[in-house]
Amino acid sequence: MSELGSASSTGSVGSAASVGSLTVLVLNGPNLGRLGSREPDVYGSQDLVALTKQLGEAAPDGVSIEVRQTDDEGELIGWLHGAVDARTPVILNPAAFTHYSYGLRDAAAMVTKAGLPLIEVHISNPHARESFRHNSVISAVATGVIAGFGFDSYRLALDQIIRTIG
Ligand code: DQA
Repeated sequence: MSELGSASSTGSVGSAASVGSLTVLVLNGPNLGRLGSREPDVYGSQDLVALTKQLGEAAPDGVSIEVRQTDDEGELIGWLHGAVDARTPVILNPAAFTHYSYGLRDAAAMVTKAGLPLIEVHISNPHARESFRHNSVISAVATGVIAGFGFDSYRLALDQIIRTIG
């Protein structure tokens, strides 16, 4: 497991809303640990440490962001089980698992069926890429999908979770 770290806001940026105490899990699938050097023309040149910092700065008071990445399908599924048990909202970039992992889909469905938000995000716009990327087996069980805005896809998802829960 790679836990990129957590960030909690102490306040200034985007702190119009205070939501008490909330942790948002930001889960990333295979090859996203290579962001920064992996296909920068598609994914940009920033890594997950930079993402963690940006989300921490965007989070309002009382919101902690926990960013994790794994190349292991079972580990990612286990994190979703943990989100259900701890009642934690999830931002999920399933990476290539998006396109074929029914195991991940079933775990994602457990999150949303538990009444928790799970927002599927993508850095790129998969629909503008190879045809195998056009299908997501996750989207139908996600609360919503945000794709194509670089790291802002995650920030928009965070904003939406705060709006919904806050
Ligand atoms: C991705 C898109 C997927 O098709 C790809 O396999 C990834 C990253 C994205 O964030 O744009 O690894 O999820």
